[in-house]
Amino acid sequence: MKITILTLFPEMYDGFINTSIIARAVKQGKVEIECVNIRDFTLDKHNHVDDTPFGGGRGMVMMCQPVLDALAHVRKANSHVILMAPSGKTFNQACARNYAQKEHIIIICGHYEGLDARIYDEVDELVSIGDYVLTGGELASMVISDAVIRLLDGVIEEESHLDESFENGLLEYPHYTKPADYKGKKVPEVLLSGHHENIRKFRLKESLRNTLKIRPDLLENREFTKEEIKFLREFAENGEFFPSNLVKIIK
Ligand code: ADE
Repeated sequence: MKITILTLFPEMYDGFINTSIIARAVKQGKVEIECVNIRDFTLDKHNHVDDTPFGGGRGMVMMCQPVLDALAHVRKANSHVILMAPSGKTFNQACARNYAQKEHIIIICGHYEGLDARIYDEVDELVSIGDYVLTGGELASMVISDAVIRLLDGVIEEESHLDESFENGLLEYPHYTKPADYKGKKVPEVLLSGHHENIRKFRLKESLRNTLKIRPDLLENREFTKEEIKFLREFAENGEFFPSNLVKIIK
């Protein structure tokens, strides 16, 4: 897979590309990351990439010409073009899985007050990483690239995806490592037992408990298994937090 990033600040990606799992994925040829400086495409003799907004108002708006010329330069028939914007659809794990199937993703990063809206017509989608506003799309593009690259074949162990938050519609279960007793805080006994079935049950129950407590919205349309319903009943009987919309499931 290839990821092309159109940005005014390519130097921001140095740490991202050259560190840890992403650096290894690049070295192994699982992904190629190309950063293209939008400023290299300006026709303005002062290299301006932005101008004041029509209709007045604060801030500067990135102009069509350098952005769209940069896009035309890198775009191929198989490119999927994403524009980072707080007004886009919210990125999630399902989007990451979808992008991980693509051959070429181009991510355009806006900066300043935003981009000329006519640029929107030339992209496949506007994508946001959450309901807050960053100074530019660069960090957001790294978030998306990271989430996608780790899903590519061979980048991390295949099985480690399966138990992750969101992959099975639940938040993940808690992890522990040595020592088994840290200043009196003990690792749950079952994890030391070597009993695989009990460990599986414990982890599923804890995933369910975490999701109920922290993200009950994820459970709204879930088809619960019999085993999960049994755990839900136990939570309710123990007086643990239980959202009212799930009461019908344990009746
Ligand atoms: N640019 C500024 N804020 C952003 C956000 N939340 N998501 C994506 N791009 C952005």
